[in-house]
Amino acid sequence: MKLLGIVGTNAEKSTNRTLLQYMKRHFAPKAEIEIFEIDQIPLFDKPDTKEAPQKIASLAAKIHASDGVIIATPEYDHAVPAALLNVLEWLTYCENGLDDKPVLVVGASYGCMGTLRAQNHLRQVLDAPEMKAHFMIGQGFLLGQSLAAFDDQGNLTRVDDQKALDEYFANFAAAYELS
Ligand SMILES: Cc1cc2nc3c(=O)[nH]c(=O)nc-3n(C[C@H](O)[C@H](O)[C@H](O)COP(=O)(O)O)c2cc1C
Repeated sequence: MKLLGIVGTNAEKSTNRTLLQYMKRHFAPKAEIEIFEIDQIPLFDKPDTKEAPQKIASLAAKIHASDGVIIATPEYDHAVPAALLNVLEWLTYCENGLDDKPVLVVGASYGCMGTLRAQNHLRQVLDAPEMKAHFMIGQGFLLGQSLAAFDDQGNLTRVDDQKALDEYFANFAAAYELS
């Protein structure tokens, strides 16, 4: 199983990036996970040419070559960060959206709700026909209190979090018959 993990922020420090790095190591026996950064991407401006910036074209090619996509979203003001929405707008306008790939939604937040509102917002966006995304309704991995959720090696410390992530990952692989 080849998955592309999108870090849903252009911030230098991010617990969502730490989460994806953990998933890459932890799920290595089951999946090859490549991590994609969304920094250095211009603001979407609906160009008449429909020509995507180079980094978006490269992202689209990586999505096409993968079996599925992981999106790790922070929560900003109860919503998905603008940097992530920007990427999704480029993808639907200039490329083939998420290319009919299954999407595993995860998120880490400093508060106790673990990006619940941002994940609901993200699923609303992913539901747009142009997004060409498949996702499991009502399922995601919510990592609350994310600043205290990892040890020095970047591993999840709370057993409940580990269990919830393992279960969600297994459900995802089974639902889309990925192996
Ligand atoms: C502009 C801004 C808005 C934020 N809004 C929220 C919010 O609505 N809910 C929340 O739990 N944390 C909020 N935060 C705090 C963290 O940025 C947020 O928990 C984020 O998911 C942490 O992810 P990160 O470590 O990948 O940056 C906000 C932070 C900023 C800078």
